[in-house]
Amino acid sequence: MSTLDLKSVSKSFGDAKVLHDIELSIKDKEFVVFVGPSGCGKSTLLRIIAGLEEATKGTLHIDGEDVSDAHPVDRGISMVFQSYALYPHLSVFENIAFPLRVAKMPEAELKERVARAADILQLTDKLKLKPGQLSGGQRQRVAIGRSIVREPKIFLFDEPLSNLDAALRGDMRVELSQLHRNLQATMIYVTHDQVEAMTMADRIVVLNAGRVEQFGTPMELYHHPATKFVASFIGQPNMNFLPAKVTGTGTTGLAVQIDGGPALTLPVETSSAAVGDSVEVGIRPEDMAQGSGGLKLNVSVVERLGGTSITYGTTDAGTRICAALDGVANVREGETTELVLDPKDCHVFDASGTVMRRLQAPELAN
Ligand SMILES: Nc1ncnc2c1ncn2[C@@H]1O[C@H](COP(=O)(O)OP(=O)(O)OP(=O)(O)O)[C@@H](O)[C@H]1O
Ligand SMILES: [Mg+2]
Repeated sequence: MSTLDLKSVSKSFGDAKVLHDIELSIKDKEFVVFVGPSGCGKSTLLRIIAGLEEATKGTLHIDGEDVSDAHPVDRGISMVFQSYALYPHLSVFENIAFPLRVAKMPEAELKERVARAADILQLTDKLKLKPGQLSGGQRQRVAIGRSIVREPKIFLFDEPLSNLDAALRGDMRVELSQLHRNLQATMIYVTHDQVEAMTMADRIVVLNAGRVEQFGTPMELYHHPATKFVASFIGQPNMNFLPAKVTGTGTTGLAVQIDGGPALTLPVETSSAAVGDSVEVGIRPEDMAQGSGGLKLNVSVVERLGGTSITYGTTDAGTRICAALDGVANVREGETTELVLDPKDCHVFDASGTVMRRLQAPELAN
């Protein structure tokens, strides 16, 4: 059992408030990813969990026990950093064994733990080598091995793959997911790469300027983003946002006129909206298809990737659009095409960037 609960955790550096009342409950064996732009507070939050940084306010419980004031080594947490500090003069074996040597663990148990970690990380035949004789990915695995031998309750990773090249990052992503399955441990992983977040996480925490924007499964965040920030951060290529004006409200949904585009009725709850309000209609590139009576697109660039044609252009109102069309789609740079928007694929954001709640099926029937 290794649960983690943060209650109202805030952090200030001098006058600068960098974390605002963070509330999180992380379940046993969960793989949780903190994602957000540079400077949003991901590392600070992780360091507070590890005990390397003190929260200005709030509490932290591990397995229900208050560890807010506990020393880092007493929290049963282990952290892997972006820049893995391996000792170049020590062998892989001794690098992995290092924390156990510090703890003066008996030799037999130490050997057993290092062997088990090396086996999990496929480093068994590298134990006698020095870090300088390893690839970047292998070195990162040694750093992870050093965490594993401590048998922590919770693993923390701060952008451990960002120094690796793209192909290796892809491989390590899969390895880390496997590691999580093998160890059955609670893991918190920080990245600003939304693809890493989507592929590895059981649940994702989206941080924006020191606040939790949304905490949910990758599919919840993709299909039901709570804010425009989450909608624009999750999904590749990014969601499109079309400025629109409200022309009607009622039980069947919100009637809007898209700037330079069609009029639509969108199945969202309208009690907070009024005729004349400005809203934005969000639609993902992969939810757009060619068809008549839709949104006119002045095509500027077509990227043919084989299976899809990533098509960029602007609407008649000058809004930039990206549509992921069929690989053989009949689109040409410098020409126009029409895109149909299915109301059920549209997300509507009010002026504050908050999503307007979708109508449920029974409400729609009335
Ligand atoms: N020791 C410190 N003293 C003062 N300000 C700090 C300190 N550490 C972090 N900050 C500030 O806190 C904010 C959050 O920093 P943090 O390192 O947590 O961001 P991050 O989300 O990890 O960013 P990145 O993706 O670039 O690693 C930043 O504005 C940063 O300048
Ligand atoms: Mg950071």
